[in-house]
Amino acid sequence: MSLLFEPYKFCGLDLKNRLVRSATMENMATPEKVPSKEMLALYQRLARSGVGLIITSGVRPDRKWDLSPYSKNMCIDSDDFIPRFAELSGRVHSFGCKVAMQLGSFYRFHGELVAPSSVSLEGSSDPVPRALTPDEIKTIVQAYGEAGGRAKRAGYDAVQLNAAHGFPLSRFLSPYFNRRTDAYGGTPENRCRIIIEITSAIRERVGPDFPVFIKMNVSDFIDGGMTLSDSVEVAKIISQNGIAAIETSGGMFGAKVTQSGPIDPSEWREGYFMEYAGAIKTAVQVPVILVGGLRNPSMMESIIREAKADLVAMSRPFIKEPEIVKRWIEGDTSPSKCVSCDGCMDVYLSGEGVHCVTE
Ligand SMILES: Cc1cc2nc3c(=O)[nH]c(=O)nc-3n(C[C@H](O)[C@H](O)[C@H](O)COP(=O)(O)O)c2cc1C
Repeated sequence: MSLLFEPYKFCGLDLKNRLVRSATMENMATPEKVPSKEMLALYQRLARSGVGLIITSGVRPDRKWDLSPYSKNMCIDSDDFIPRFAELSGRVHSFGCKVAMQLGSFYRFHGELVAPSSVSLEGSSDPVPRALTPDEIKTIVQAYGEAGGRAKRAGYDAVQLNAAHGFPLSRFLSPYFNRRTDAYGGTPENRCRIIIEITSAIRERVGPDFPVFIKMNVSDFIDGGMTLSDSVEVAKIISQNGIAAIETSGGMFGAKVTQSGPIDPSEWREGYFMEYAGAIKTAVQVPVILVGGLRNPSMMESIIREAKADLVAMSRPFIKEPEIVKRWIEGDTSPSKCVSCDGCMDVYLSGEGVHCVTE
């Protein structure tokens, strides 16, 4: 295995290998919503293990956007927090690892559940959100811009927008959830508009060389949602308008496929989004990161060799075994021991610090 563990230049960043820790909520932030000691220790452990790039859990640009004020998610809505976030980037950098801050979703605005349109998934018991006004969208765009600026000042190497998994930014891209008739809905260009405006708002504060990545769905896997051909179109538009790299994920809770793979266990297979990622990679000029069910380093090597993706990312395997990369580098290249049961997601939803439930 040569490619996977060799240094690679990615969006101007010198990575020591092609392995990425994908964004993973930890439920470990302090009550102020900044990295806790426990979280710093976790990131240090991940970085020390030899992974090339860490993408943080979703950091909210405004704490009022969160579903609950008591959540243990991070938030970067004031310059005062920059030194606390810099502690995390500093620890990661001390092991030669790069770190991108994922900028997480807005859920609430003025206390109300919001989305591009007042639509919830048919057949689900999800509450119906209120449609955002154009002025509220502008406020959200500015908050992302400021958060991106703070991430750079806190020493992060890049930011990533979370526009996947049926969260509000992903809903803007989806013809099912976005029923707007103004400049933010209708055509693919209009559905991408909020992403392009956020990217520009960040760019104004970080300059031309700081990369803005996105995590997006290759398909929503719901009737009337974004299909692969829609996502290829979206990927082309946003990559021509400032997005430097695309992490390909898919699905949402309530769909036939979620971020964790097909719901039907007989359809689950390693790297379940890899062909979709390959289709997107062929259509765009920017690099692609594949995430979703990657467990075996030899398969990851083939994915890179076959040009389906430039980097490969994992989430649950790092919960099971934070030092998995070290194990692989030292020669034990047996697959991740993660059985993809999603017990860690249940732990997250219960509010506890995220950990593996199997032994
Ligand atoms: C506990 C948990 C928390 C997650 N938090 C995030 C997150 O903050 N942002 C995000 O984009 N994806 C998040 N994900 C999704 C993962 O990044 C990844 O897309 C998914 O788990 C599939 O990859 P895997 O098979 O390697 O786990 C989370 C997943 C889990 C299990």
